[in-house]
Amino acid sequence: MEEFMGIFFNKNKEKRPTGKGKVISFLNQKGGVGKTTMAFNTAHALSMNGAKVLCIDMDPQANLSYLFGIENSTEDGRSIFQLLINSIRELSPLHRAALWTDCICKEGKIDILPAGQDLSGFELTVAGISGPRQLILKKFIEMNALKTVYDYIVIDGPPTLGLLVVNILCASDGALVPFRPDEFSYKGLTHFYKVLEDINDMEISNTPDVLAHIPNLMDSRRKQESEDLDMIAEHLGEDAVVVEPFMNKAQLVKGQSQKKSVFEFNSKEFLPLQNQFSEIAKIITDWKEQGQYE
Ligand SMILES: Nc1ncnc2c1ncn2[C@@H]1O[C@H](COP(=O)(O)OP(=O)(O)OP(=O)(O)O)[C@@H](O)[C@H]1O
Ligand SMILES: [Mg+2]
Repeated sequence: MEEFMGIFFNKNKEKRPTGKGKVISFLNQKGGVGKTTMAFNTAHALSMNGAKVLCIDMDPQANLSYLFGIENSTEDGRSIFQLLINSIRELSPLHRAALWTDCICKEGKIDILPAGQDLSGFELTVAGISGPRQLILKKFIEMNALKTVYDYIVIDGPPTLGLLVVNILCASDGALVPFRPDEFSYKGLTHFYKVLEDINDMEISNTPDVLAHIPNLMDSRRKQESEDLDMIAEHLGEDAVVVEPFMNKAQLVKGQSQKKSVFEFNSKEFLPLQNQFSEIAKIITDWKEQGQYE
């Protein structure tokens, strides 16, 4: 199997260093729950702690790329889609000369591999290949030894449960799940866990640790929400981490309209959000450190 995958993924024979970096993804198949917002601000929080951070936008909507000021990455072939395709030898007619280092965009200290519209064709493009289609992103990260270069690779996922998300799950060491606490969320989370279970059953890859569930867009005036949140937390079980909810905050909208993280504002009104994102970063770094001593 190893040998076959080596051929499939155009991998050199020599063993590549695996590195200590961790792949962290923000996932929920439901749209508009705050995946991109959380990925963007958490990446900044990690980077401010001195970590070397790469963001990979795995959503064809390319919202994360946009927040980092990158548009139209598809046209010049400098997109994560092209890099993933380049890593599959069978698809050599579709290859375009690009190394991952050519595709990196930089925003301050954070590196970004942007997405474009082309990513929406991922599932169809790889449909006919003979290798394991679920492991393309994981192999891409391994082939380029990205975990030796970065402390954290932060991935923003699309609002689906298709092959892109399966690739993200197979590549991730840790996952964080933002959700809106309403009566439908629990159903959505159940689906998400079912996919995790399926991946586990297929035994093709380790499944990520779910580091936190993040209630988002809470409105203190709606009492029903806190009841729904309690119900969801109870269903998830006592082992599940459910962090302090993020309220619906105009500051987050303001930050995003200026393509800035909450840490780029000095005013007092941003302090609670800064603390909350620092807390998310702390959950991630504490978890990573624990793993180092296992
Ligand atoms: N706590 C919050 N307070 C106010 N606005 C928020 C908050 N969280 C997210 N938003 C806003 O809600 C919208 C959806 O957030 P975001 O794009 O992060 O969700 P998403 O899960 O990535 O969506 P999609 O599934 O479409 O990718 C954005 O306009 C964002 O600015
Ligand atoms: Mg998004």
